Amino acid sequence: MANMVMSIDGAYAVDQRSGGLSSEADRQVFRWLRASADIVLVAAGTARAERYGRASLPEELRAHRAATGRAEVPRLCLVSRSLELPGDLPLLEGDGPTPLVAHPADVSARELPPGVEPLPVPGPPGEVDLSALLELLASEQQADVVLCEGGPSLLGAFHRADLIDELFVSVAPRMVGGDRLGLLGGTEPINRPLRLHRLMTDDDMLFCTYRRRD
Ligand SMILES: NC(=O)c1ccc[n+]([C@@H]2O[C@H](COP(=O)([O-])OP(=O)(O)OC[C@H]3O[C@@H](n4cnc5c(N)ncnc54)[C@H](OP(=O)(O)O)[C@@H]3O)[C@@H](O)[C@H]2O)c1
Repeated sequence: MANMVMSIDGAYAVDQRSGGLSSEADRQVFRWLRASADIVLVAAGTARAERYGRASLPEELRAHRAATGRAEVPRLCLVSRSLELPGDLPLLEGDGPTPLVAHPADVSARELPPGVEPLPVPGPPGEVDLSALLELLASEQQADVVLCEGGPSLLGAFHRADLIDELFVSVAPRMVGGDRLGLLGGTEPINRPLRLHRLMTDDDMLFCTYRRRD
């Protein structure tokens, strides 16, 4: 599944961060979705821009997961071609499982900083084959539920590969403009219909859940 927040006009960031579009209810949805995931997948560009830390959850959600036999927090998995991670990225340290970095199998992971674990993904040279990545996460990490938190270029690749079963989009009651528009980045269009599964509102914000139309 995937989760993104956007403005009415489709902006995905303000000042290079998504936080300016979010709300307390959106952050709650964000945490609940994380709580239902085995793996939180994020593009390296977003991890760098948003200064990602290791996936954390409030105590009651950790306890609920533990009571149902799951790890207290989901494991983070970055997706990168370049493997360029700044040495001061918060996710390199802290509590919780060591984040994975999925990368093309033909790219050496020697330069990766300590604090992350490489996950080479077989596929075309220089590319992370997303279907192979999901298979690896299922077989090696026992991941039934993988949550992609973006950003747009990674979500666009998932869309192209038709690998999104469920999409959560929060629509903030804001008009933003600019050129950071579109949840799928500047990818070749593929016009794929989805089914609206649920629609909730809070303080003028829309919370839409779309599912694959099989
Ligand atoms: N509104 C929201 O919900 C939301 C969510 C997430 C992010 N954002 C915003 O989105 C912006 C960043 O988005 P972006 O589109 O520029 O970048 P992005 O998708 O976050 O990251 C691009 C980078 O991620 C890696 N990557 C992406 N797709 C890949 C693939 N298929 N295979 C291998 N590596 C892949 C590459 O990393 P390397 O360069 O390391 O090779 C690529 O340069 C930020 O401003 C962030 O705040 C918004």
